[in-house]
Amino acid sequence: MKKQFPDKLNITLTCASGVEKVLKSELKRLGYQDAPVINGALNLQGTAEDVARLNVFLRTADRVYINVARFAVDDFDVLFERVKSVRWEDFLPEDARVIVNGKCVKSKLFAVSACQSLIKKAIADRLCGVYGLNRLYETGAEYQIDFSLFKDEITLNINTSGAGLHKRGYRDMVGIAPIKETLASALVLFSDFYHERPFADLFCGSGTIAIETARIALNIAGGVGRKFAFNDWKNFDQKIFDRVFSEAKDGEKRERKLNLFASDIDPKAIKLAKRHAERAGVADKIKFSVSDVKNFKCDLSGGTIVSNPPYGERVYDKKEAEECYKSLGNVYRQLDNWSCFVITSAQNFERHFGKKCDRERKLYNSNKECRFYYYYKDNKK
Ligand SMILES: C[S@@+](CC[C@H](N)C(=O)[O-])C[C@H]1O[C@@H](n2cnc3c(N)ncnc32)[C@H](O)[C@@H]1O
Repeated sequence: MKKQFPDKLNITLTCASGVEKVLKSELKRLGYQDAPVINGALNLQGTAEDVARLNVFLRTADRVYINVARFAVDDFDVLFERVKSVRWEDFLPEDARVIVNGKCVKSKLFAVSACQSLIKKAIADRLCGVYGLNRLYETGAEYQIDFSLFKDEITLNINTSGAGLHKRGYRDMVGIAPIKETLASALVLFSDFYHERPFADLFCGSGTIAIETARIALNIAGGVGRKFAFNDWKNFDQKIFDRVFSEAKDGEKRERKLNLFASDIDPKAIKLAKRHAERAGVADKIKFSVSDVKNFKCDLSGGTIVSNPPYGERVYDKKEAEECYKSLGNVYRQLDNWSCFVITSAQNFERHFGKKCDRERKLYNSNKECRFYYYYKDNKK
């Protein structure tokens, strides 16, 4: 019989800094109660089925890892012996192509490439011993081992996702300063959006926030349009994946009627956004238009704006960005009982928007520190 993964796995989920809370809520909704945060990552115990579920369903996690070891280390001999003592054969078949990547932060062992080669050698020694090989042939599927050495403690993880989970598969061309799909989803999940209410992104660019909103509203799981590293692993029972995938497809609510609006001043951006929405399977759910923010009007009440306007740093200068915030504030105040959620790195956003926010949250967009401003319904004056 083909060797399968162990029954109990330590699973580690990474996400952007500031997003942990919404990821925890996602986990709760999927039925996972407890996921303590260690070094910025969420940890839980599960099975191979959980690995598949988390990859397919989660919207805000960056990657799903199997954690295989965590120990203190400050010299190369200990690193080699401890890595070699890990039961790699439980996860890696004899033809595994082993790729080791990682980082060293505030640790005595600080040379990443030296750690990388030593870890790879220790894994190879272990597997050759167990499988009776004179060397690793590496003719099979790729297994990425990620290590993180932080303050002389190393964590060794197997990456089950492959490419980051923000790569949903629908965005094939790059617009101006696009936001990651995982962060876009987090913004919508932090907001008060509900599928029966209107929604608008008035700076939609390549469409990411509106597309993620549509997928949330239609209950289309985060990872249904892509493959994962474990799909290539012969020791990962693909029937498990098929089951989880069917569960995700069965849960979709594609028949829902939505009122989603997405606009941008740039016609090229709207063309791209429409293309991405088409590829994401939600083109008929979003009303796209080329429009300056200042012209937005909507007769519907009780909606939600979630937007990522220009920050005034790259393509648009500071003055143009400030004009956008001012127009957004004016538009928001004309709408009937809408809320508004805006991410920007601009320090003076509230002044130009014309109102102090109800609350704010620190988030990072492509490593840039930003604030996510909340303006709730019925609180506009
Ligand atoms: C940071 S980008 C948004 C990126 C988008 N979230 C994405 O994922 O592609 C800001 C967008 O604001 C648009 N923009 C700039 N000034 C505008 C205005 N006055 N009205 C509407 N859109 C504007 C730009 O064309 C640009 O696409």
